Amino acid sequence: MGKEIEKAAIARKHNVVLKFDEHNLNEFTPANLKKADVAIEFTTPASAVTNILKCFEASVPVVCGTTGWLSQYEEVKKICLEKKQTFFYGSNYSIGVNLFFNLNEYLAKLMHTYNSYIPSIEEAHHIHKKDAPSGTAITLAEGLIKNHGGVKKWALKEKAASGDLPITSIREGEVPGTHIVRYTSGCDEIEITHKAFSRQGFAEGAVVAAEWVKGKQGVFSMKDLLNAEK
Ligand SMILES: NC(=O)c1ccc[n+]([C@@H]2O[C@H](COP(=O)([O-])OP(=O)(O)OC[C@H]3O[C@@H](n4cnc5c(N)ncnc54)[C@H](O)[C@@H]3O)[C@@H](O)[C@H]2O)c1
Repeated sequence: MGKEIEKAAIARKHNVVLKFDEHNLNEFTPANLKKADVAIEFTTPASAVTNILKCFEASVPVVCGTTGWLSQYEEVKKICLEKKQTFFYGSNYSIGVNLFFNLNEYLAKLMHTYNSYIPSIEEAHHIHKKDAPSGTAITLAEGLIKNHGGVKKWALKEKAASGDLPITSIREGEVPGTHIVRYTSGCDEIEITHKAFSRQGFAEGAVVAAEWVKGKQGVFSMKDLLNAEK
């Protein structure tokens, strides 16, 4: 993602003033960070929170796309607000996926009285992905649970109890990201699918979020960005 984001930033006429990965962390200092208007963080579940907090320390707005660390989201949000910093989080920066999130919520509302249709989610990603289920699948699950009412919590399919919303995670080849929300009855099935063709849409969305969040203070998401663009 770092390489895709660099391409997208340059295409949108930005200068990439710093690049960090696990091999040059000694350069990840407040003084170096301050050279940037906004930091974009796509790393690993284990390193995201430390990186975000370092950006807060340097007072640099941070756009984060790393998934798999969300159990600490509320803590990060609290620190951001206390320190009057800027934090933008998106489990998925693709515009198409964010439209899909809205469609998912609409469909969940539509289906909530039809309890013969059992909801489930399936996601497929490349074999290098470290977390499961995907952050996008979790956002879909949360949107479905909030608007459907028939399921109280999600669980990975192999651990799901009766009444849970099961999420099947498939890891194969170099799949950029496919998500399916499905309602199955004894007679038929309703399914909505989002399929990413490449990682370009995620990278462009993250750069657009960075442009949008510059100069703002607080905690933001793709909902804020898309509502602001209406
Ligand atoms: N939100 C979205 O739209 C979206 C889209 C695609 C991927 N992702 C997420 O972004 C993250 C990165 O995905 P990827 O495919 O680029 O993974 P990747 O494994 O290809 O890259 C991770 C990078 O993080 C670097 N890294 C590791 N530890 C670090 C540290 N302590 N500090 C700084 N850098 C460190 C590694 O050197 C590597 O370059 C994953 O969590 C993935 O799920 C989100």
